[in-house]
Amino acid sequence: MTDVAERLEELRDRGLYRRLRLVEGRQGPRVLLDGRPVLLLCSNNYLGLADHPEVRRAAAEAAMRWGAGAGASRLISGNMEPHRQLEERLAAFKGYEAALLFGSGYLANLGAISVLAGRGEVVFSDELNHASIIDGCRLSRAETFVYRHADVEHLAWGLERAGGRGSLIVTDGVFSMDGDVAPLEALAETARRHGCRLMVDEAHATGALGPGGRGAVAAAGLSGEVDLIVGTLGKALGSYGAYACAGRELHDLLLNAARPFIFSTAPPPPVLAAAAAALELLESAPRRVERLRANAAALRGALAAEGLGVDRGECQIVPVEVGDAGRTMALSERLLERGVFAQGIRPPTVPEGSSRLRLTVMATHREAELRRAARLAGEAARELGVVAGSPSAPVAVAA
Ligand SMILES: Cc1ncc(COP(=O)(O)O)c(C=O)c1O
Repeated sequence: MTDVAERLEELRDRGLYRRLRLVEGRQGPRVLLDGRPVLLLCSNNYLGLADHPEVRRAAAEAAMRWGAGAGASRLISGNMEPHRQLEERLAAFKGYEAALLFGSGYLANLGAISVLAGRGEVVFSDELNHASIIDGCRLSRAETFVYRHADVEHLAWGLERAGGRGSLIVTDGVFSMDGDVAPLEALAETARRHGCRLMVDEAHATGALGPGGRGAVAAAGLSGEVDLIVGTLGKALGSYGAYACAGRELHDLLLNAARPFIFSTAPPPPVLAAAAAALELLESAPRRVERLRANAAALRGALAAEGLGVDRGECQIVPVEVGDAGRTMALSERLLERGVFAQGIRPPTVPEGSSRLRLTVMATHREAELRRAARLAGEAARELGVVAGSPSAPVAVAA
């Protein structure tokens, strides 16, 4: 057996082997998955903008006007009008002096963290931060202090011990696999007290939280105070790519020093035009955000009635913790057989022993179909012994 085959075998043995599934057609609340119609409950297209006609039209028109690609990195010859326009709009939306586009959220986190922390310094990172933050910490070559999830006292203890070497606190705004919100006010206060910068990843908060979907930082009234925000264009904004918002000086430093910005081709104009159209829709019709919140509450309530643990948070990300990776995937399969696609999440995405279904709600789901999905999840979970007993209250079932 080759070493490659051995590694694949080991993944299979541990219930961690992954394979791709195919979505046919556009991303919507219901899709054809490997040829079968399913309710999609694991997309980050939270506001349903990825397949909105105006967003698609904007991308198509931009392709005709500006072309398919930017042809080079921004600092060579790839800087075009759509980049400048979208950066200005994103900065204004988030309440910052400036924004800088990156190829993806993953790259933005690598770039921003490695600029804000360096060798000899300490970066403080929540234990449930996204993998791209973890990798950004590694790339920075700073020492990383991983504080217990949302535990500001543990963080403060670490900062004391770092004795002035602390340069950055970094956190998800909404935690990607748990759906809870970081204690941003306390983090900002702690950062201020210790003379440390604070960076918040708004990947799952933009379009979901705060006034008009401006995010968790805006919801906490901290727009100027958080030194740097990273947001993605690939989730609620329905496109692809990412941005960092900061003061002008820090923006200029990122532009000069963030390697994923400098050494990577600029995002393509159609992708930016799609994001700009989505942002316009979000600003002109913030009711989508309210709809998302109402749907999240409906799904959480219906799952709770089925005895499925969703105690954390109020957001559109709803974890159903199972524990074991194999059982998690079995639950996902059972649910799929019933026409509901909810992806199982396993290590290394979540800590060992905390595998789960990660259900995500969209503003374009119908409340009745969410209730029905919860009932089916309860049924499948009882079959597999993931929960015992019967539902606590009758749940309205859609036709
Ligand atoms: C919290 C968080 N940050 C960053 C990313 C990466 O963003 P992107 O998909 O744009 O690379 C993700 C998800 O993919 C995420 O969940």
